[in-house]
Amino acid sequence: MTFTIIVLPGDGIGPEVTHAARQVLDAAAAQTGIEITYKERLIGGCAIDRLGTALDEATLAECQQADAVLLGAVGGPKWDDPTAPVRPEQGLLALRKGLGVFANLRPVRVYPVLVDASPLRPERLQGVDLLVVRELTGGLYFGEPKGRLRQDGREGAVDSLVYWDYEIERVVDLAFQLAAGRRGRLASVDKANVLETSRLWRQIVQQVSRRYPQVQVEHVLVDTAAMRLVTSPAAFDVIVTENMFGDILTDEAAVLAGSMGLLPSASLGGRGGGLYEPIHGSAPDIAGQGIANPLGAILSAALLLRYALKQEKAARAVEQAVERALQEGCRTRDLGGSLSTRAMTDAVLDRLSLEDSF
Ligand code: NAD
Ligand code: IPM
Ligand code: MN
Repeated sequence: MTFTIIVLPGDGIGPEVTHAARQVLDAAAAQTGIEITYKERLIGGCAIDRLGTALDEATLAECQQADAVLLGAVGGPKWDDPTAPVRPEQGLLALRKGLGVFANLRPVRVYPVLVDASPLRPERLQGVDLLVVRELTGGLYFGEPKGRLRQDGREGAVDSLVYWDYEIERVVDLAFQLAAGRRGRLASVDKANVLETSRLWRQIVQQVSRRYPQVQVEHVLVDTAAMRLVTSPAAFDVIVTENMFGDILTDEAAVLAGSMGLLPSASLGGRGGGLYEPIHGSAPDIAGQGIANPLGAILSAALLLRYALKQEKAARAVEQAVERALQEGCRTRDLGGSLSTRAMTDAVLDRLSLEDSF
């Protein structure tokens, strides 16, 4: 079997971590007997510099045709001028929208060996294994009107938070399915005490919940959820929430795991095989030094193997190789170690074995 993957390394550490993920994918593919053809394309700041746009139409079309898309990160200080007409992040948003990937799965695991890498007390981290399902193609990121306002000589700006029933239903339904396959608990996070969109969200969660009597659902206000993520994170199983709340809560959740560099994501929905990217950004502060943690990207490659290529055994083998490497003390600097990106990747490759995976 041959699969086509579009690789969008992007900016900053994006190329460093996608290179690592590709090496691991290659090794997993060789052991599985599948073939992968890669096409590398531009997105983000580097695309603005070379093409004048953060994502060109031809690249989006190729992504829509591909079996999966693997992305590094976009953005950086070079393109951060708030008055710039084009921004790297527009490319990422256009890609998510263009692929129709409405559900962004962000699993958060705490590896027992890494509890010291988190500022939280070890007893609070025990048993943390949660999954955030973030709505990805609606809400504040996309709502209209959006832009600058001018009135009576004053300058303003507007972003609109808009959700339609079907946008909520499809992501909530997927979250219920995922919860049913896990520990059967779903926390729907909103701000229903203030936002009309959240009250619609709650109403739809209640409707969908009738289809999943085996799932215990609770509604949690986002401010409380932010607190509970650090006071009792192990109590969460699946969290489903709108676009921006999910963005913010998952950076917070990365603190449980020990580093931003660890968390992967899979963006599903639409017709294609999905979009796979670590949750971190382009990390301009460490870019080009060869010290970025590649595990978020490598674990995203594992999700790609699972959801896009349907290679469950290979996906598990990658996850187990990562776990073994960490257990045996391999760490990049963000986790208090001294391994380079390359050495950490080699540590995973050395432990990758489909035969030993269970
Ligand atoms: P960031 O995630 O890039 O970095 C936050 C902190 O985490 C930094 O100290 C960084 O060094 C560290 N970090 C992140 N990934 C790491 C890794 N793999 N290994 C080790 N340390 C890591 O967030 P930021 O600095 O706020 O944003 C920088 C740029 O990235 C911005 O332009 C932002 O828009 C963009 N961004 C892009 C994405 C994406 O492409 N998906 C996600 C988030 C931010
Ligand atoms: C993420 C990032 C993006 C988001 C930005 C870069 C558009 O923070 O993937 O988490 O907010 O979705
Ligand atoms: Mn983010």
